Amino acid sequence: MGKRNPPFAFFDEVYKSFDTKEVLRGITLLIRKGEVLVILGGSGTGKTVILKHIVGLLPPDAGRVFVNGEDVTNFDDNALLPIRRKVGFLFQGGALFDSMSVFDNVAFPLREHTQMAESEIALKVQEKLKLVGLENIDWMMPDKLSGGMRKRVALARAIILEPEALLYDEPTTGLDPITTKWVSKLMRSVHENLSITSIIVTHNIQSAMTVADRIAFLYRGRIKFVGTPDEIRETDDPIIQEFLKS
Ligand SMILES: Nc1ncnc2c1ncn2[C@@H]1O[C@H](COP(=O)(O)OP(=O)(O)OP(=O)(O)O)[C@@H](O)[C@H]1O
Ligand SMILES: [Mg+2]
Repeated sequence: MGKRNPPFAFFDEVYKSFDTKEVLRGITLLIRKGEVLVILGGSGTGKTVILKHIVGLLPPDAGRVFVNGEDVTNFDDNALLPIRRKVGFLFQGGALFDSMSVFDNVAFPLREHTQMAESEIALKVQEKLKLVGLENIDWMMPDKLSGGMRKRVALARAIILEPEALLYDEPTTGLDPITTKWVSKLMRSVHENLSITSIIVTHNIQSAMTVADRIAFLYRGRIKFVGTPDEIRETDDPIIQEFLKS
């Protein structure tokens, strides 16, 4: 890895088990700076576990994880802080704080992590809500929003600290096909707008094909394939073809 322009992240033979269950069995994966990389794989195959390794929410049993050229494998919470500050994470389920308005949800990371004045916070919140296509709903409570709107609020909150990278865990689960298409387009436009690296975990093949620069296919604890949507369509690997048909 050249020091001058390191990839966003690199997994070097990463292993992870829980009790006797081997989940990651030698993951090798390079995530380029500025790309949209989709990690595709069946349910329970370890997609969320991979994301958690990037921000050190889980440590590997063996192997190494690099972020921005730095070996973060043995970083403690304190050392991980600058990375977590630079990487937005949209957790599976995209939990919002239900007792807080949309505005307070989106403002939350700024109030936690910066000394910004409330007037400046208000501007930032409006700017990010606009970027995700939401305006004039900042006073609403999350339980009054549709599933698609909740996703967008969660996205606004994830980008409020202006991260260098965004990790999305199953952003389209539970959404109808039209909203899924909409959210896929939105992820792409946010990606271009902020010039970031986007890593999207999903089992939605259609969404993966429309949003990805490259797709990594996770199967039995290893990355079985990495390539562009066209390349994955054209592969003659029967397991991948079977998955694409599902
Ligand atoms: N903290 C943990 N403790 C114990 N087991 C875990 C933990 N995290 C994940 N696992 C196990 O590891 C396996 C992979 O989990 P993971 O959540 O990464 O799957 P996934 O690919 O994200 O699946 P899904 O599509 O259902 O979200 C599962 O069998 C899960 O039960
Ligand atoms: Mg998951």
